[in-house]
Amino acid sequence: LTVKDQGTPLKGKKVLVTAGPTREPLDPFRFITNYSSGKMGYAIAQEAKKMGADVILISGPTNISPPKGVKVIYIETANEMFEEVLKYYGDIDIVIKAAAVSDYRPKTYSDKKLKKQQEVNIELVKNPDILLELGKLKKHQVLVGFAAETNNLEEYAIEKLKSKNLDMIVVNEIGQKDSGFANDTNIIQIITNKGEKISYPKLEKRECAINILKKTIEFLETSS
Ligand code: CTP
Ligand code: CA
Repeated sequence: LTVKDQGTPLKGKKVLVTAGPTREPLDPFRFITNYSSGKMGYAIAQEAKKMGADVILISGPTNISPPKGVKVIYIETANEMFEEVLKYYGDIDIVIKAAAVSDYRPKTYSDKKLKKQQEVNIELVKNPDILLELGKLKKHQVLVGFAAETNNLEEYAIEKLKSKNLDMIVVNEIGQKDSGFANDTNIIQIITNKGEKISYPKLEKRECAINILKKTIEFLETSS
């Protein structure tokens, strides 16, 4: 099966994608993370490149090889991701935040391995909400977020779309066999700040990526 060539509608556009999980270390050997595989974000980066964009991919640890022609910046923690995103944000046309950023990190980092003899209480502190901050700083950028939900999908997604000042949000149900983290397929819904809601059937992540980008391009055209 080949997906029809989309042409190069993103020629001359700068696209920033974040992907994968973050890792929040406790000591040199242990960290807090989540099940994100990075597949969705990498597929978006790759398809954006094929559509002619200059693509920067800011990625947490994954097992995926870097997409051809894409500038990849590897990070581990949410704070590192935040710092890298801010370096490029001003100059970017489209930001797609597919990364599963850890909401919390351990308050303290021990540079010596934690020993089982000692009593361990892990105190957590909140990480910055990168997307929320980008929403506050938004000028010309088209800002696309993701919402990973297990329940009340639409309600939570619309809340995120509004509170983070997004143009569009991609909703995906996690914890399902054919959708969400680690799968090759995804079942997504796109909700825009114009009140549009589009539901897609189960598709390969590559096809999801094309649909997300096509919808984003419409935004670029109507907002400029
Ligand atoms: N996000 C982010 N920085 C964070 C947390 C989330 O940039 N510290 C981004 C994600 O990349 C995603 C969007 O915000 O594009 C929504 O993430 P999600 O985890 O679904 O929502 P949260 O706002 O973190 O709320 P909650 O986890 O409570 O549902
Ligand atoms: Ca979260």
